[in-house]
Amino acid sequence: MVSTISSKPLTRSIDPKREAFCADLLAKMTLEEKVGQMVQADLSWHEDVRQLTREGRISSLFTIRDPKVINLYQHIAVDESRLGIPLIIGNDIIHGFRSIFPIPLALACTWDPELVEQVARASITEAMACGTTWNFAPMVDISRDPRWGRVAEGSGEDAYLSSTLGAAWIRGYQEARDADGRSAAACVKHYAAYGASESGKDYNSVDMSERRLREEYLPPYRAAVEAGVQTLMTSFNDLNGVPASANSFLIKRILREEWGFEGVVVSDYDAIGELVMHGFARDHKEATLRSVLAGVDMDMMGNAYHFHLAALVREGKVAETVLDEAVLRILGLKYDLGLFEHPFVDEADAHSALSLPESLDLAAKAAAQSIVLLKNEGGILPLNASAKTVALIGPLAKERQSLLGCWCFDGRVEDVETLAEVLERDLPADTNLIVEQGCAIDGGDLDLAGALKAAALADVVLLALGESDTMSGEAHSRAHLCLPGRQQELADALAKCGKPVVALVFAGRPLVMTKLVEETPSVVMAWHGGTRAARGVADVLTGKVNPSGKLSISFPRSEGQIPVYYAHKNTGRPVETSGTVQFNQAHKSSYLDEENAPLFPFGFGLSYAQFDYSGLKVLTPQVRKNETLRISARVTNSGKWHGSEIVQLYVRDLVGVVTRPVKELVDFRKIALAPGDSQTVEFELPAGCLSFLDENHHPVLEEGDYKVWIGPNSAEGLEGRFELID
Ligand code: GLC
Repeated sequence: MVSTISSKPLTRSIDPKREAFCADLLAKMTLEEKVGQMVQADLSWHEDVRQLTREGRISSLFTIRDPKVINLYQHIAVDESRLGIPLIIGNDIIHGFRSIFPIPLALACTWDPELVEQVARASITEAMACGTTWNFAPMVDISRDPRWGRVAEGSGEDAYLSSTLGAAWIRGYQEARDADGRSAAACVKHYAAYGASESGKDYNSVDMSERRLREEYLPPYRAAVEAGVQTLMTSFNDLNGVPASANSFLIKRILREEWGFEGVVVSDYDAIGELVMHGFARDHKEATLRSVLAGVDMDMMGNAYHFHLAALVREGKVAETVLDEAVLRILGLKYDLGLFEHPFVDEADAHSALSLPESLDLAAKAAAQSIVLLKNEGGILPLNASAKTVALIGPLAKERQSLLGCWCFDGRVEDVETLAEVLERDLPADTNLIVEQGCAIDGGDLDLAGALKAAALADVVLLALGESDTMSGEAHSRAHLCLPGRQQELADALAKCGKPVVALVFAGRPLVMTKLVEETPSVVMAWHGGTRAARGVADVLTGKVNPSGKLSISFPRSEGQIPVYYAHKNTGRPVETSGTVQFNQAHKSSYLDEENAPLFPFGFGLSYAQFDYSGLKVLTPQVRKNETLRISARVTNSGKWHGSEIVQLYVRDLVGVVTRPVKELVDFRKIALAPGDSQTVEFELPAGCLSFLDENHHPVLEEGDYKVWIGPNSAEGLEGRFELID
């Protein structure tokens, strides 16, 4: 399904006043001041940041979150530099500023763009109150490799879901306004295909066909451009041999020419300087040349533009007009954000915007809705009144910091409630809660005696397991995705304790928990849910919230399956068919020692309710290319709980001029049903959404036969067929 080749680039409406203001300012600038607008730094830079700001040779500062310090540098820029051009202050508000929300991979499991937008708005409102006007988010890198620590920061494996949620993040970030009417720019990252880093190692090479790039990895960036994102960050990785931060095919050909992006392109942290380590530039001067000619407007924390760009212009190797175009984009961004009129942040009012009750309530709601119920044999959950003694056992039982997850600089650990505290408060007064650590998250001893003693006294055992916050995120890839430390031993022992056991898994990525799932009757994926993670979990455990999350990424049975994802190709020898037999053996695309299917597929998630699908109707069995496919199914809540179900629509193009995925998500709808209620869900899909790239990367829409499913996840559903005709 193509959405990365546009026949008509996007065009921004021209504001004559803005254009004139920026052009006039540019005309006054010296070469050094122009270079200065293309330089971003933080206070750890080895140069004299104050003096360079005074000289107009720094355009943006980042990783400063104290409004006093921000204003101090802003006064230097505005009051002491020759032209008084304000700084733009960047920060990474990935899933919250002071109120920390679930990591984006978890929030993606809500499949709820409105909720994502609310979270984004609440997050940027807090950040703007403290002076941030540029947010280095959303990260929309598609990833199918949970070894990669940054899988936590994105919206998972699927282009359609990531595109939909990426646009919601951007709306939430960019539509917020502070008391002065200032706004903040979002920054879609990391362009491009950083999530396909080889072997799941961060910063590693990426090599893929242009087809896979355009059809599977670029759509979320394209959707961000369509959503009006004001800036974009190029990634560390090389892509097909050319580092993304000096890749004119990505930046000039696709981003600017095909998509019509007119915003600011900033490199990732010294990614331009790293061209030398890539072996793509002899020295930082050549790195500067390659990146600026490829179209990177701003050098983040770089050893490049600040030192070499002016010389390259004077030597005639870079036309000054190249800088002019970049500087106009940067000045235009500052103009659009209102920085020229209101460069300063209201220090007195800054902290009054933080951790507001409504933000923390939203954090609890988001945490609960991000939770995915993976197994619930015997209906152990929700906990019922007969459970008079509950044993909460495991290293996450009394943990605070880890619940915040990666990238949460301003989240305060003292604001985080532990699961033990919340259960102590929320379980019925006559319930006795016993809490045992059992073991550490990683390393240390195993206290089986204490754990088994607690279990022996309990009616139900809650196992709080998982990763610490420092086990995922940037530069935190893991080759072994099992439960860290001795947690599995703890789980194994408790699985035999003869009591009902519920495993609660707090992590920043899919873990390989095949044995845990086999031996435990109830399993809940709680992720790293942020400041109110524990309340979200408790609300699900007690039934105050009926879990509705659906996985945004497949869970592998073992690392050997990686990459495992639902939208794979059929191959010539798929396991599902009788297929070819050689030497009396079925020769299939499979393993000798592992299943093909993931432990849990993309889109999977259970509920306390029971949703039954029936009555699939392909209302348009034949669809013309300029028409709309219409298809419906009935969903019934045959359970005893109110609940929400994320109804998913998948298609498969059975024959194409190139091989096509066995399934592609093309739409979804979240519905709420009371017990006994039914709802007919009808989808309308413009036939144009079925186009894809032919062998020459040209969009084609081919008549032919398609399968279509409406179902609860990517592995199940009611199947129908339709024909696309000319
Ligand atoms: C980091 C990350 C990027 C972040 C930037 C600024 O290295 O790769 O996501 O926005 O630096 O902190």
